[in-house]
Amino acid sequence: MKDHLLNYQNNRLYLKIMRVPKYSKTSPYYGIPRREFIKYMAMVSAIPYAPKFLEGKVNSTPKFSSYPFSLGVASGDPEPDGTVIWTRLAPDPLGLSGLDPEPIVVSWEVSNDEAFTKVVKKGKTLATPQLGHSVHVELKGLDPHRWYFFRFHSGAETSPVGRTRTAPAINDMPEKMKFAFTSCQHLESGFFNGYPHMQKEDLDLVIHLGDYIYEYAGIDKRVRKHIGKEIESLDEYRQRYSQYRLDEDLQETHRLFPWLVTWDDHEFDNNYANLVSEQEGISPESFLARRMNAYQAYYEFMPLRKRSFPQGPDMKLYRKCRYGRLANFFVLDTRQYRTDQPNGDRQKPMIGKVFDPNATMLGREQENWLMSGMLQSGATWNVLAQQVMMAALNRGDEKGERYSMDQWPGYEISRRRLLRFFYERKIPNPVVLTGDIHLNWVNNLQLDFKDPKSPLVGTEWVGTSMSSAGNGGNFIPEYERAAKQNDFVKWYNSNRGYVSCELTKDDWKTFFRATPYVTKKGSPIETKAVFMIEEGKPGAKLVTKA
Ligand SMILES: [Fe+2]
Repeated sequence: MKDHLLNYQNNRLYLKIMRVPKYSKTSPYYGIPRREFIKYMAMVSAIPYAPKFLEGKVNSTPKFSSYPFSLGVASGDPEPDGTVIWTRLAPDPLGLSGLDPEPIVVSWEVSNDEAFTKVVKKGKTLATPQLGHSVHVELKGLDPHRWYFFRFHSGAETSPVGRTRTAPAINDMPEKMKFAFTSCQHLESGFFNGYPHMQKEDLDLVIHLGDYIYEYAGIDKRVRKHIGKEIESLDEYRQRYSQYRLDEDLQETHRLFPWLVTWDDHEFDNNYANLVSEQEGISPESFLARRMNAYQAYYEFMPLRKRSFPQGPDMKLYRKCRYGRLANFFVLDTRQYRTDQPNGDRQKPMIGKVFDPNATMLGREQENWLMSGMLQSGATWNVLAQQVMMAALNRGDEKGERYSMDQWPGYEISRRRLLRFFYERKIPNPVVLTGDIHLNWVNNLQLDFKDPKSPLVGTEWVGTSMSSAGNGGNFIPEYERAAKQNDFVKWYNSNRGYVSCELTKDDWKTFFRATPYVTKKGSPIETKAVFMIEEGKPGAKLVTKA
């Protein structure tokens, strides 16, 4: 059995895995206990680090058929002493990379200046075929809280110059910090018109809350078209990421700022929960095989550290990013460890299985990590960078209350446990960043959302999509009603765009930026509303509204 499974040849290895059909009697996985299967997947995924693969095969003088840095450069996961810098060799980014399956030498440089007259670090690394010739270099020994420039060389070619910024020293209190967050960039629904405006802001960081790609098949007569069918194989996921990353506005925003990324569902499969597909009849085994492909491609294309390296169908994406004593970002993964939506994944009243005490959004390990991290944080602002809405938004009508079962209220005991934790342990200034639903919401998080007098324990900014759902700005009766009937909602808006946030030790200001259209390129930007939070006083206060 193992021989069959390990019938690999360089990067063709994964093709063998992903072609495995559903868990039927004809599947090569049939009869393998789940635990063995997962162990096997972990073993396969560790292969890119096996040194024997590199023996005698390194190409240090590659000749490329065309420019290999077509997908640009990126950086991310800032620490006080460095960031991770990223590129990927791809002379034929939409084909199967256009490279021989051999490791290729890539050198890198980091400089204080854009002209590279003051190079402070340099080194060499390998772009391996097992990782699609992607390159992730974790920089160390840089100074805290400053800008650096970086670039890569391979053969006779040089990458574009990227810009990155380290985080402040752990005990430093920076005067201010500015970041933008976004999510949900469906390529077929529109252009990423927010990014050119984001590029002009004076940001330390960009946060992406997921739905970086969509997995669906290409559909005609849309603004742009996905290549191919719904993606399942590693090469299909890779091609989809390449198609997205070739968007010049997206690529340029990666070049200019360090990013802190997390995924939602569409990086793999719509509304999935852990091992459970939204479609019925998909075995956990074949679902896991697909998840392995999805997670690996995500790692390959994102500026992530080795701590997030995928282990088969598992990948630890939750992590912290600290900006001195000013802010601590807890980047969450609400998909990989959640129990299946206890009450299905549609809208339902908050009854029955919603109160299942074993239902979890984060999984026990991540929840423990989050809570102990928040207790020890020592930062003024404790930020949850996560996916789905935390406020219990009643979208119902005269026929009765309705809540989204895919969001935190579908896991109500989990949600209450976290809010109670904020309250009882007096966590300083919890702020929740949310994506997923292609709308802007400003929500006050209350201990008991049904009691208007219940204490405020945090604030939630829900950011709209970059392009998903098209132009936006339309009147949506269900949400207009929801905004009115839920007292904790301070504002609602249906435009496309992104959100930028400016933090000092005294207050937090949030700017909701809107692009009036995405079906044509080059939209202007409008600030639809500005809200703030005063330090020590949870809840959003309106500053201005358009
Ligand atoms: Fe989305």
